Amino acid sequence: MKGLILTGGKGTRLRPLTHTRAKQLIPIANKPNLFYVIDDLVAAGITDIGLIISPETGEEIRAACGDGGRWGARFTFIVQDAPRGLAHAVMTAEPFLGEEPFVMYLGDNLLSGGIGHLVEAFEASAPAALVLLTEVPNPQQFGVAEFDAAGNLVRLVEKPADPPSNLALVGVYLFTPAIHEATATLSPSGRGEYEITDAIQALIDSGHTVQARRTRGWWKDTGKPDDLLEANRLVLAEMAGRIDGDVVDSGLTGAVVVDAGARVVGSTIRGPVHIAAGAVIENATIGPFASIGENVEVTAATVEHSIVMTGSRLCRVPQPLVGCVIGEGVLVAGDTARADSLKLVLGDRSQVRWT
Ligand code: G1P
Repeated sequence: MKGLILTGGKGTRLRPLTHTRAKQLIPIANKPNLFYVIDDLVAAGITDIGLIISPETGEEIRAACGDGGRWGARFTFIVQDAPRGLAHAVMTAEPFLGEEPFVMYLGDNLLSGGIGHLVEAFEASAPAALVLLTEVPNPQQFGVAEFDAAGNLVRLVEKPADPPSNLALVGVYLFTPAIHEATATLSPSGRGEYEITDAIQALIDSGHTVQARRTRGWWKDTGKPDDLLEANRLVLAEMAGRIDGDVVDSGLTGAVVVDAGARVVGSTIRGPVHIAAGAVIENATIGPFASIGENVEVTAATVEHSIVMTGSRLCRVPQPLVGCVIGEGVLVAGDTARADSLKLVLGDRSQVRWT
């Protein structure tokens, strides 16, 4: 069985973070979203993996992933010329996929519990396709499944105005090569894309068996800043503590990771918190649910429910920083002599909010 990971997608809803970075590389608990996806495939025994990349962010994805050796896997990078839909990605990957069954996994999805049980179910019952579903409060924003009274999957519809259920398609799909016949019949949808949802519907319509499974734990599609924070919260909540760095005159509670080379001095850390190598935390309060990236400096500041990326500095910040997503190399610095004014240098589409 092969793997196909999709890393195209412009990430417009995550600007400004995605002006300079592929959204799949945004760190969740200090590990890129994409690496969780790779881990899930490899843990399910899938090591021959194609990565669909875009002309814009492809080189960055290649550089971050390498050839797959780090995972004991083999990566093949496949350029999709434009974001023309998930089914278009499958069409683009057809020469790589050949006659093998495969798992398609969207590179900005995060799933608890891995995909091993899905691969086993797929291999045991041999349907043409197996899809994964989860209940969502806003089915209009997803592909949605409809079942008949006997519990058979009868219809899949992409972003319906009037959803037939609250069961959304999760971005993990298992396919036999039958999907290639289905993608060949498609025309672009209302949003101008070749929809994988339509291709699966074509399989159903031509009499193929399509099975559906429910997610066992949580699932997150990290398309918006609040989704990143929620994914960060979910991953940190399952994390075990580990102190490999220096902790001096500080109080730690809950699950706290301090990586080797990080330093915590005179601070309060309320887990779950992940502090990466080279970070320096001084006279600060961190957590709960905070990920502090490599070489980040936090001095005299409070940071909770937040993601702070590599090399940023948060110094003498008078207000608690809550629910923040802070990119790389950002400076947030206060001057205690004049805490009632703000001096901002913000790039395009930055956001500053008072809550
Ligand atoms: C895509 C699929 C949709 C699915 C979703 C899961 O949506 O088209 O059916 O529910 O991924 O993340 P998109 O991210 O293209 O809006």
